Amino acid sequence: MAGNSRAQFSSRLGFILAAAGSAVGLGNIWGFPTQAASNGGAVFLLTYLFMVFILAYPLLVAELTIGRYGNANPIRSLLAVAPKQKTVAKIVGMAGLLGASGILSFYAIVAGWLLGFFANPMLKIVGLNDAAVWLETFSNERNLLLMLLFMLLTIFVVRKGVAGGIERWSSRLMPVLFVLFVLMTIYIMTLPGAGEGLKMYLVPDASHFSPDLVISAMGQAFFSLSIGVCAMMAYGSYLRKDANLPMTAAQVSLLDTGVAFLAGLLVLPAMFVAQKNGVQIYSETGALLDSDTLVFSVLPAMFDTMGSAGLLIGMAFFALMIIAALTSSIAMLEVPVSTAIEELNIERGKAVWLIGGLIAAFSTVIVFNFGDLFGLVISVTTEYAQPIIGLMTALIAGWIWHRNQVLEELKQGNPELESSLFWKIWPSYVRFVCPVLMGMVFLWPVLKGML
Ligand code: PHE
Repeated sequence: MAGNSRAQFSSRLGFILAAAGSAVGLGNIWGFPTQAASNGGAVFLLTYLFMVFILAYPLLVAELTIGRYGNANPIRSLLAVAPKQKTVAKIVGMAGLLGASGILSFYAIVAGWLLGFFANPMLKIVGLNDAAVWLETFSNERNLLLMLLFMLLTIFVVRKGVAGGIERWSSRLMPVLFVLFVLMTIYIMTLPGAGEGLKMYLVPDASHFSPDLVISAMGQAFFSLSIGVCAMMAYGSYLRKDANLPMTAAQVSLLDTGVAFLAGLLVLPAMFVAQKNGVQIYSETGALLDSDTLVFSVLPAMFDTMGSAGLLIGMAFFALMIIAALTSSIAMLEVPVSTAIEELNIERGKAVWLIGGLIAAFSTVIVFNFGDLFGLVISVTTEYAQPIIGLMTALIAGWIWHRNQVLEELKQGNPELESSLFWKIWPSYVRFVCPVLMGMVFLWPVLKGML
């Protein structure tokens, strides 16, 4: 193990903001509202909240606990908790590392578009209309340039390390994100049409409920809380021993869920405002049009109808998305980087350029084979890798890691934990309930096929 000289987050709040920064990202602002809008609004919201509580939160505790115990990169941390199952530990760690890299490779492309949408109004203001149109229009060259730019931003932060880079930037950027969000939500609420969106989002209509919706909500909860690619394990490894793990995980989950909720409060009403302004959102059959590009088409269309105020609001919105994406992408890059530093014995600066370069190269391949690879990489990483690795993490924490050691680690930083309900429930919960719940996700499509 790397010993005491290993970097640490400098404060509890700093860690919470960094971990919440990792969790809050495109998944909250792009994924969650899109899913809610296409899955009946309030019903999806309630199912999602339930999934975060019964599945994602306990797993987040497991990842943080394994990471802090190991005090090393995810592969070594897993080896530390499963010394007799070396192969399993290595495979899970390696899969997490590849998963995080894979997510970053498509995430950087999407985040690049955000950079384009952010720069677009500025270019229009200074009269560079051709450039503005180029940035708005889908092309391989545009996607490549913007992806590289976003990767450079990510590399820049991760190069500075844990306290000076990740914590510093997350602590600065996360509060800005909250304030911007609340201001924009208040503004949207004053526009005609917002009430309809609000109703859809907050008043449940049980007829929309289906088992598929439960699975989507579960996947969304995994992605949103950054579970199943060892990212939280990597962050947990820099956590001080006096931090209270269940409490920290609860705070991170609450912040993440709070932002997803706020994003719904902003985007669903904004959709209906856009509809009032003549932008078509739902088809005649009631299906959401453009479900993948909601944020990229409906919202810019709405900003356009708002005149010069729209330009500013649009920029604020995209600034907000970029911030959220950056505090997540740094967490993804940290997983392979922390591993390369310790396993290959190279300096952080070199590791960041090496790994960042490799991921950017893979992203470039996706950019030039967009139709074939973009959707495929998203589905392999988020629909398969995250739930499978999440399941493996639960099995390792519940069945392989020695129970006394788990409890000992959990107790550090919180001696009173022993008298809590959490203490009584969590170990068996991770052992039995989490794997069964996740097993159902995999079995459902099979069962459905048999029915
Ligand atoms: N949770 C991030 C989001 O919601 C995505 C993410 C996944 C970050 C996995 C790190 C690891 O956008």
